[in-house]
Amino acid sequence: MSQPFLPMDVPAVRAQGNNTTTFTDNMRLPVHRWFRYSAGFSAGWAETVVEATEARRVLDPFGGSGTTVLAAEAVGAEAVGVDVHPFVTRVARAKLAWRSDPEVLLMRAADVRLEVKQQRAVAEPTSPLVVKCFPDRGALLDLLRLRDAVERLRQGDDYDELLWLAFISIIRACSPAGTAQWQYVLPNKTKARVAEPVSAFESRVELFAQDMFTMRDHVGSPRGQVYESDARTLDTLNDGWADLVLTSPPYANNFDYADATRLEQSVLGEVNGWGDLKPLRKRLMRSATQHMSGWDAAEALESPLLQAVRGELTQTFQTLAQVKQERGGKKAYDLMVAGYFFDSAQIFQALRRVSAPGVTVCYVVGDSAPYGVHVPVERWLGELALASGFRKWRFEKVRDRNTKWKNRKHTHPLHEGRLWIEG
Ligand SMILES: C[S@@+](CC[C@H](N)C(=O)[O-])C[C@H]1O[C@@H](n2cnc3c(N)ncnc32)[C@H](O)[C@@H]1O
Repeated sequence: MSQPFLPMDVPAVRAQGNNTTTFTDNMRLPVHRWFRYSAGFSAGWAETVVEATEARRVLDPFGGSGTTVLAAEAVGAEAVGVDVHPFVTRVARAKLAWRSDPEVLLMRAADVRLEVKQQRAVAEPTSPLVVKCFPDRGALLDLLRLRDAVERLRQGDDYDELLWLAFISIIRACSPAGTAQWQYVLPNKTKARVAEPVSAFESRVELFAQDMFTMRDHVGSPRGQVYESDARTLDTLNDGWADLVLTSPPYANNFDYADATRLEQSVLGEVNGWGDLKPLRKRLMRSATQHMSGWDAAEALESPLLQAVRGELTQTFQTLAQVKQERGGKKAYDLMVAGYFFDSAQIFQALRRVSAPGVTVCYVVGDSAPYGVHVPVERWLGELALASGFRKWRFEKVRDRNTKWKNRKHTHPLHEGRLWIEG
């Protein structure tokens, strides 16, 4: 592969503007727009990176809702996405079912509509979140009848998954509750327009079918796959497989991915309350204080895996442990930061194993400042990457940000961008 170091130097990649670290642009793109997973990044930009690197095998170890995999297959590369969150992996897998026949999807959706009319009894979720988000019981029952109809008509094929995705993607629109900038639900804020479940579902399926026709015309032979697996081991991948890694890991900013799809999972009856999120929190990369219960930082800080950043990391850990004592919330940001880099070190080792020599790795990431203590995320990640056997790293800042922590009364300037790693 002949290329300049790095794709950020390629004009087409540079010309993409500064929305590239968010999901916003994807809401206009076929298939990408089927489910709004706010944690994503721009698919258009991802396509330019795959093309600029002439990559043939692309890996996203934090695959989420499938942006990288869909972008890579759209420009003819083979692609694998890995995510440990079962619900989000299912979303990505359902999106990959765009290869199915849109005419059949429309027929199957017509069967769902007929089934809903049967007005069978439904099991109502007892989840307090659902009760709060759907104060109109009639509208909730309509939504649940739709849920049950989709479930009852399953035939064990990809159309089941497309109909499931169409259903879960209308849930928020059917609730009067507001949604925050991120995925969080704000039951005390209301929205102006609330969708009616059956017609929202019909419009959704029509949109899916339309996008499936479009994709058929534009994507030659799709070669993307997603697995529910852990980025710390990447055990579904062979050694030396990837020639491009394009990803956005969780940031060290206390966002809890287990909570991101709680409303959808509560309506489905998969989750009832906070306690049900525990098993997933234990599997996620440590990036939120809710992921830290029972974790021993001392042992991790001594681990040879952290040798490259141990001095500074231990100092930051101790400062955060001290600041925690002075704050009302007593949040375990000290553990969160130690856990974040301990897990990142394992991830770079796994990435080294599954990457070909000369690989390009792009991490879309931001720094953070819990309790106002700055954590130089990209520098420490860069150093951990070198310690795992990669050759060099460079950071390309895309934008400044300081929204979340600003609420907590600190003014540390933060940024977001791309950590380009080579080797
Ligand atoms: C920033 S999001 C990536 C979003 C993705 N780019 C997209 O377009 O949807 C980070 C993802 O990392 C996943 N994740 C967290 N811990 C993980 C782990 N140990 N292994 C694999 N994925 C993990 C989360 O579930 C989340 O979907």
